[in-house]
Amino acid sequence: MCGIIGYTGRKKAAPIILDGLKRLEYRGYDSAGIALLTRREDLGLRREDYGFQVVKQKGRLAALEENPKTAKLEGFTGIGHTRWATHGEPSDINSHPHLGGSNRVAIVHNGIIENYKQLKAKLESKGARFVSQTDSEVIAQLAEHYYSGDLIDALIKTFNALQGSFALGVMCVDNPDIIIAVRKDNPLIIGVSEHGNFIASDVPAVLNHTNKVYYMEDGEIAVINKDEVTFINSDKEVITKPQTTVTWGVDDAEKGGYPHFMLKEITEQPKVLNDTVNITFNEGENKKTIDKIDFLMFNRIVITACGSAYNAGLCGRYVFEKLCRRSVEVELASEFRYKDPIIDEKTLVILVSQSGETADTIAAMREAKARGAATLGIVNVIGSTIAKESALCLFTAAGPEIAVATTKAFSAQLILLYALALKAAANMGRLTEGALLKLEDEIRALPAKAAEILENVDVLQKYSSNCIGYKSVFFIGRNIDYAIAAEGSLKLKEISYIHSEAYAGGELKHGTISLIEDNTLVVTISNNPALHGKIMSNAEQVISRGANVLLLGNCGGARFEDCGNEKITFIKLPCCHELFSPSLSAIALQLFAYYIAANKGLDVDKPRNLAKSVTVE
Ligand code: AGP
Ligand code: GLU
Repeated sequence: MCGIIGYTGRKKAAPIILDGLKRLEYRGYDSAGIALLTRREDLGLRREDYGFQVVKQKGRLAALEENPKTAKLEGFTGIGHTRWATHGEPSDINSHPHLGGSNRVAIVHNGIIENYKQLKAKLESKGARFVSQTDSEVIAQLAEHYYSGDLIDALIKTFNALQGSFALGVMCVDNPDIIIAVRKDNPLIIGVSEHGNFIASDVPAVLNHTNKVYYMEDGEIAVINKDEVTFINSDKEVITKPQTTVTWGVDDAEKGGYPHFMLKEITEQPKVLNDTVNITFNEGENKKTIDKIDFLMFNRIVITACGSAYNAGLCGRYVFEKLCRRSVEVELASEFRYKDPIIDEKTLVILVSQSGETADTIAAMREAKARGAATLGIVNVIGSTIAKESALCLFTAAGPEIAVATTKAFSAQLILLYALALKAAANMGRLTEGALLKLEDEIRALPAKAAEILENVDVLQKYSSNCIGYKSVFFIGRNIDYAIAAEGSLKLKEISYIHSEAYAGGELKHGTISLIEDNTLVVTISNNPALHGKIMSNAEQVISRGANVLLLGNCGGARFEDCGNEKITFIKLPCCHELFSPSLSAIALQLFAYYIAANKGLDVDKPRNLAKSVTVE
């Protein structure tokens, strides 16, 4: 939530900051703003006439770019913000950057200040006047309150007073060439380039200028000027940090001719699956990590995550349980953290997260660690909090995922969950060497099958394009097809705004069938030959009540009632082992949702009210 960027260097800051914000817009997009400083001497101004130039406004970044005031921004040092409001409605005044009472300090903030009301009341009692409804303004006001010539001292006192989570970029009129960055529980990177240095919420914001970055840790303070970056701790002692060279380039974070990032990312899946399989089953870091895990040490396995990552966990559970004959729990991270979870040192807690920064999943990880459980992250963003703090971490080779709706990272998560289930089954003596290799071969075959779906997308595209009029869509499946139905439903509702629910095929008749009427669409997923007859009976039940059915999967087609009924459209997916079928169903379901949303003319990559990484509770 919220993207922050700061630049100080030899180039004009405004275009660099706007470009960086464009690449962070996936993090929040209800308002945007920018604050710049120019050296006083460059402007020939007296101190009292000198100050921040701020342009900020409600709406997408494009509105800020088109604002005539933006074109007039001058200076080589500045901070910018693209917001996902938590406190205070999206409005011009609530947009960041926020200034302190005497306009000496400007801040951009990602996170939530939980004690802002108390701090605000205290500052108001001392005469401060607040102009916004945000929690963030209290940071600028407090920093100015403490400021008496040394910004770092003022900020250390400020951080000590704040409760909650924050990644901050801070500037002060008295040090117009310096930006200070600090984080607690929200991500921040520092980029170093030939022409200047950066702070940013995420790597894509700086990739046009550099691939050399530092990942900040909680409690660290970065002081950047145009020539150097210094890291200090809260005792103002200098600390040395390793620099990372990012291996992907700016092209990976560009649309590359596709109308939307989501379509580009869906299309990248054969490569992503292949890359993830390679580093997991052949030689690579994931393989080394998996080799270290001894599942015999654990008597419980809990998978915890949010949203689509949770849905990946639901699919993973079926694979674990089928192959290992051991029960696996899948918990929503937001529930797990507060349920006084029954875990101990014999529990393995698997945390699935594309961003590695989801607040609820981080909290679940910390809760698990505090109770002595072993933690294993499945993460896409290297350098993220879960990647750093989980005891062991596997990486999805999905590259940067920009569209808010996850596609390729989800698919890569599935591969890692299959790999873990296979390793667990092998550890537990449930699979012979031959059976293991056969299952691995099935997984290795998935990238080519994914490519097959993408090469034959026309029928699905045509069908989906005709679905924009549905008010409600149900997704049904049985067993693992039910787990992937949950992801199909989430994908559709988040980007198309069509109401949708996923049901276990057998459950629909226990109530929800009353919602089926003429022209309801029921997407029916069938990849398990043993259950095909059952799920088709459920499909018949909804057809009898007026529904249309899209049958997706590799079962069916041979029987008259599958394809001869005009109420059913059957789109066949490539054959594969039923346990790995979510990998193929997912792609078809993503395309289905994408084409509906795109045909409705919606902003597919940035659906309303959402943000890519949910770093607040
Ligand atoms: C997916 O399409 C969603 N936008 C969302 O549910 C997401 O999967 C969830 O917020 C978890 O994010 P994470 O994987 O970065 O932890
Ligand atoms: N709490 C801040 C606001 O509402 C920042 C929100 C965020 O980082 O998501 O402006």
